[in-house]
Amino acid sequence: MIIVLLGPPGAGKGTQADRLAARLGIPKIATGDVLRAAVRDGTRRGLEAKSYMDRGDLVPDSVILGILQEVMTSPATKKGAILDGAVRTVPQAEGLGTMLAEIGKKVDKVLLFDVDDDELVKRLSTRTVCERCQTPYTGRDPGTSCTKCGGTLVRRKDDEPDAVRNRLEVYRTQTAPVIGWYGDRKMNVARIDADAPVDEVTARALQVLGK
Ligand code: AP5
Repeated sequence: MIIVLLGPPGAGKGTQADRLAARLGIPKIATGDVLRAAVRDGTRRGLEAKSYMDRGDLVPDSVILGILQEVMTSPATKKGAILDGAVRTVPQAEGLGTMLAEIGKKVDKVLLFDVDDDELVKRLSTRTVCERCQTPYTGRDPGTSCTKCGGTLVRRKDDEPDAVRNRLEVYRTQTAPVIGWYGDRKMNVARIDADAPVDEVTARALQVLGK
């Protein structure tokens, strides 16, 4: 099963992707995590992506489609994948559809996590993430340890107020049209109210998936 998660920055895509991946037994593919690892490792892809990410702009479609091509043809995604933030423009949705068709697959479900802007800003301004495993935390200080892997918690550069404002605008102008694109192709986009406790949002997502 291939599931695309859509939603604005801070909507909880990463949090829910981890839970759905564990529950459904398929991997989470988060392009943001892949790109941050590339930046950390100083690869060519990371060097190309860094300035876009720091400003809160989208990394070029060609880079994202390259990542998707690698992961969707890898044995790790044979049974499916939860695509977390991996489709953020109409050309990305088109490119993913084409590459999946070539290997006899398709997107099975699109989940859209809906949260209002005030709550998103609140979540992102109090978030720290593990620099090793990327687990997000609320209300835990930078420099403290990740309870999952022992890595150090840091603030993301794109969680600074200017970058957050830009990410919300980028979402509205470049990613929101993806919702209509899937709708036009008779793909049922399930809108989930994600301004609720984490367990409740997971339950809503599983219900939509019939699990
Ligand atoms: P990415 O890392 O994907 O960032 P994002 O989409 O902006 O999403 P976030 O990680 O900020 O939020 P989230 O929705 O995952 O929420 P989370 O679970 O962390 O991408 C970063 C950058 O990479 C992009 O800006 C772009 O430059 C580039 N990029 C990546 N993919 C790309 C693509 N396809 N095309 C082009 N460029 C791309 O939760 C947020 C906080 O809220 C956490 O602290 C969490 O603990 C808390 N929280 C979660 N759920 C709840 C809840 N229900 N109630 C209360 N708090 C909650």
